Amino acid sequence: MSRVPSGIPGLDDMLTDGFISGDIVLVTGSPGSGKTTLGLQYLHHGATEYGEPGIFVTLEESPARVIRNAWQFGWDIERLVKENVMRVIHADPVTYAHYIPEHDSDSDMHLDTGARIVETLSKRIERYVGEIGAKRIFIDSITSLKISQERFHARFAIMELIKNLENLGCTTMLSSEITSGALAYESFSVEEYLSEVVIRMHVVRVAGGRIRAIEILKMRGGKHDDMLRPYAILDTGLVIYPRETVIDSDAINAVAMM
Ligand SMILES: Nc1ncnc2c1ncn2[C@@H]1O[C@H](COP(=O)(O)OP(=O)(O)OP(=O)(O)O)[C@@H](O)[C@H]1O
Ligand SMILES: [Mg+2]
Repeated sequence: MSRVPSGIPGLDDMLTDGFISGDIVLVTGSPGSGKTTLGLQYLHHGATEYGEPGIFVTLEESPARVIRNAWQFGWDIERLVKENVMRVIHADPVTYAHYIPEHDSDSDMHLDTGARIVETLSKRIERYVGEIGAKRIFIDSITSLKISQERFHARFAIMELIKNLENLGCTTMLSSEITSGALAYESFSVEEYLSEVVIRMHVVRVAGGRIRAIEILKMRGGKHDDMLRPYAILDTGLVIYPRETVIDSDAINAVAMM
């Protein structure tokens, strides 16, 4: 099995030796935990250091905003697009939903908004993979695909997307928001079951500051670190400290159980 370097300092140590080529990697975390940063870093470093072109699919932020945010880490996304080693796809589910009649002929599940977005999106991704020979994909975030009112439709859309992505031969990262509160009963979501690797990022407020900690919840077919490790977002991007332990892990565990 060939391995794929993540481009995130410290993460490959936690995964023993990077991702397994072709895997689906889910990155979950609370707002502001650094999911977008981690995914962009994975794509940027893949294209610039490892000769692996990548596709960035943004379902939330506009590409202009993402490109601007990437700049502060010194990552020139526009140049990579011009050099044909990166493609950016903007798929905004809210805008998309406006173009779909509210009550389409019958309740055929293929008429569901989430399923339609997945269908169009999968085709575009596949075309770009062929165009630039992409090896990496980052989708930010799949929580936005849960636009359907019915849980069944939302789950179906995510399952379809993951199935389509598996056929492309890329090592794919998906971000998703941690479900809490009303959705807590669904403590393991469909994307967590279907992904080979699940990474969880925590940000916890404690007296005197904020703790950021990351953990590998699972990695099929690979040995991985079971500990929570501290990480930071610096001017150069995200850095994990794989040999340090989180001092106040009780605070994080309390949040993780919520
Ligand atoms: N240059 C920087 N130096 C230090 N920290 C930074 C820098 N840029 C961003 N951050 C931190 O990164 C956080 C945002 O990271 P990011 O957008 O990747 O998070 P996210 O998990 O994708 O958030 P969301 O759920 O809102 O999409 C900011 O809240 C800030 O704390
Ligand atoms: Mg984000």
